[in-house]
Amino acid sequence: MIIKNTKELDILREGGKRLAAVLVEAAKAAKDGITTKELDELAEKLILKTGGKPSFKGYKVHGAPMPYPGTICISINEEVVHGIASDRKLKNGDIVGLDIGMWYGGLCTDTAMTLAVGPPSGGATALISATKKSLEVGIAQVRPGAKLGDIGFAIQRYLEKEGFGVVRELVGHGVGKAVHEEPEIPNWGKKGEGDELSEGMVIALEPMTTEGNFKVKLAKDGWTWVTRDGSRSAHFEHTLVVTKTGAEVLTRI
Ligand code: MF3
Ligand code: CO
Ligand code: CO
Repeated sequence: MIIKNTKELDILREGGKRLAAVLVEAAKAAKDGITTKELDELAEKLILKTGGKPSFKGYKVHGAPMPYPGTICISINEEVVHGIASDRKLKNGDIVGLDIGMWYGGLCTDTAMTLAVGPPSGGATALISATKKSLEVGIAQVRPGAKLGDIGFAIQRYLEKEGFGVVRELVGHGVGKAVHEEPEIPNWGKKGEGDELSEGMVIALEPMTTEGNFKVKLAKDGWTWVTRDGSRSAHFEHTLVVTKTGAEVLTRI
């Protein structure tokens, strides 16, 4: 586990704030009729304008057919995460996950949100708000001495009580010097199990939920994760640092 020093934290703080602003701006453009490619280009422009560099572009994952081609992962409806921009147009009634990462001053942060395009269709508000809340439930567990299992347990208990599925294949992670660092942070688990958090660790928590069954699979493009039952999915993510007493979220606006 990499502990970040004060100077690095200052950089991550500034980068995280800027990235949060970029995500908010990009989210405003996620309206009926825009193509996901246009959204991706906008996100890249905003990142460059704020002095950063996209961290996902060119990112390689073992087994993927190509490096990730985009700046922002755009995942629509039954797509869970890592959707790739294309000529597809967003339309009213869609729910859209936007996940974005940025290098700034040599360090990177990672954040995501899910929104409804136009008036939310049946159940979308409940799915999105429970997922958003589950991220806060996870963050509330963060403090030195807490176990990774405490975070996963709290997120899973909350989401299952709300009637949603918790995706297992994808997890939160350390972040900062690389897009993904140790440790892996599942959104499920048992209280008191797993590694211990310590002050100065920088992690990304990112619950992914499903309206139906929690099982997911990789789509043919080799990047996009989709629900097996075709039910909709939502995702929220923040990068945070473990402080003396709890957590400081770096990607809040
Ligand atoms: N943002 C994803 C995460 O939250 C990682 C995306 S990697 C990419 O961990 F290559 F798909 F962009
Ligand atoms: Co992310
Ligand atoms: Co992440």
